[in-house]
Amino acid sequence: MLSEGKSTVCAYLGVTAAVHKGMKTLILDCDLRRPTMHKLFILGRKHGMTEILQEGFSPRDAIKKTSIDKLDVITCGDYHPEPTELFDVEAIATLVDDMKFYYDLILIDAAPALPVSDPMLLAPELDGVLLVVKAGTTQRELVERAVEIIDPNRDRILGVVLNNMNNTLPYYHDYRYYGYEYRTRKSQAHIAAKARDRRGKTNHRHRSNPDSKGDTSRSHSR
Ligand SMILES: Nc1ncnc2c1ncn2[C@@H]1O[C@H](COP(=O)(O)OP(=O)(O)OP(=O)(O)O)[C@@H](O)[C@H]1O
Ligand SMILES: [Mg+2]
Repeated sequence: MLSEGKSTVCAYLGVTAAVHKGMKTLILDCDLRRPTMHKLFILGRKHGMTEILQEGFSPRDAIKKTSIDKLDVITCGDYHPEPTELFDVEAIATLVDDMKFYYDLILIDAAPALPVSDPMLLAPELDGVLLVVKAGTTQRELVERAVEIIDPNRDRILGVVLNNMNNTLPYYHDYRYYGYEYRTRKSQAHIAAKARDRRGKTNHRHRSNPDSKGDTSRSHSR
């Protein structure tokens, strides 16, 4: 599915694994149609997957270091007019197997499962698939269809990332919700104080108060 945040989740997962878990991590940009990893990590696009798949370019030479320690990227490579033809699942699976020797974690950013067939072809060759769903936007039927396509035997999908939660379900943990509640309580307290004040003035007008004769008399004189 388009623009759910797949590449963003993939990049953040890579950063988290490298920085917080100390895992030597490699991200492969296998979305040859709408590649983003070179933009996210500010790297040159060329000498990546396209060249590896098309020209037998050495994967070791294609590895690019990012500004984050322990996090490397193989970018998508130069533009290719026929990404479907170029997408060689066996070659990618071999590349991943070879890279397992050097890395603790290999993340692959892929094209959307609908309508592109790449993820469906790639899924059986990998250890697992993470599905990214945009909360409040992605239709249930599309998610079910994607699961059918990618994981017909229900043994590939490791989990689902529900992106865009804050904008969709603010009641659980959005600070704006609490901010609103806080303001409401404040204004309620303000209203209550004004009401008390009004009641106090009314009492002064209509009741005689032995402790504040002066005030009462002033009230009566008005
Ligand atoms: N949780 C988020 N909060 C804010 N912005 C987000 C979030 N997730 C994704 N985005 C933004 O949404 C846009 C699309 O995200 P991204 O490129 O990761 O989607 P994608 O699923 O990889 O898209 P494509 O189908 O084109 O490959 C980007 O501009 C990204 O910065
Ligand atoms: Mg993407």
